[in-house]
Amino acid sequence: TVVDRIFSGIQPTGTPHLGNYLGAIQNWVNLQEEYSSVLYSIMDMHSLTMPKEPAVLRQNILDTTAAILACGIDPKKCFLFRQSLVPEHAELAWILGCLTNVPRLLRLPQWKMKRASQNSEGTVGLLTYPVLQAADILLYKSTHVPVGEDQVLHLELAQDIAQHFNKKYGEFFPVPKAILSTTKKIKSLRDPAVKMSKSDPKKLATVNIADSPDEIVLKFRKAVTDFTSEVTYDPAARPGVSNLVSIHAAVTGLSIKEVLHQAAGLDTAHYKMVVAESVIQKFAPIRNEIKKLQEDKSHLIKVLEDGAEKAKELAAPIYQEIRRLVGF
Ligand code: ADP
Ligand code: NA
Repeated sequence: TVVDRIFSGIQPTGTPHLGNYLGAIQNWVNLQEEYSSVLYSIMDMHSLTMPKEPAVLRQNILDTTAAILACGIDPKKCFLFRQSLVPEHAELAWILGCLTNVPRLLRLPQWKMKRASQNSEGTVGLLTYPVLQAADILLYKSTHVPVGEDQVLHLELAQDIAQHFNKKYGEFFPVPKAILSTTKKIKSLRDPAVKMSKSDPKKLATVNIADSPDEIVLKFRKAVTDFTSEVTYDPAARPGVSNLVSIHAAVTGLSIKEVLHQAAGLDTAHYKMVVAESVIQKFAPIRNEIKKLQEDKSHLIKVLEDGAEKAKELAAPIYQEIRRLVGF
């Protein structure tokens, strides 16, 4: 019988922003309650596909871990671990890479986009990291993968690889299903035409979940809106104000309608401060917890190591069987 098993990963880029929280981490917290077998991985091997200073990567791994623990990820309810501590991810990626056509990888849009952003011809790691993603998922015979829209094509690759393996070596992997995030994309505060992103070079555009109340107020004060002072929700015609309404609804748990009701009579300048306050309220306890956790490095390291031990135990019999199936 196939057990439901969730696998998801997060790249260690430091403390997450509001979009990461609302689009991914919050959903992770819910899934660890709903499913009995859940794996969350800090994807340090994936991080190497873009240039990184070793000291920065090391620090980011701890900061990301502190942040997601502070957000409510509970190592008693899931396996939280560092990818590179389970070398079978890389070993399985090799096997799966031998079942994957190069042109299939060359067609993936992220290959072109990330190569362009690096201004380089591209490395083998950047080309084949979707194969490593397939290995991340399949190593545990995962059945469900929470993904953002941007990762749907990569999950399809993992599904194709699973099917290809099953055809060649006999039915073995469940074909993993997507759990699509239903949260609307949070937009940049400085340009509501693009999503909020850690790589946005614009100042004050991205709200970090560990920002101080002053920083949050400043960022929302400078948020781009339009020349209508009333607060309405119309993402196509009024993307800036509508983004504020979306954020307000998401952090308070209220519906868009309820939020608009609260905003009735306010002009956008006042409303920005209402939204800022709601964000401050939501993240104040999380911010405190992040700071506390960051002070105890050895605890963070231990959490990731303990999680890796459990992940290894889960992977070991599956990987042994894979080895046998392919003829090792
Ligand atoms: P970034 O764009 O900051 O580099 P990533 O691409 O690393 O973020 O995304 C990590 C996770 O956070 C993904 O699941 C992605 O869907 C989600 N995410 C990122 N930005 C946003 C956003 N602006 N709104 C909603 N979800 C987001
Ligand atoms: Na659970």
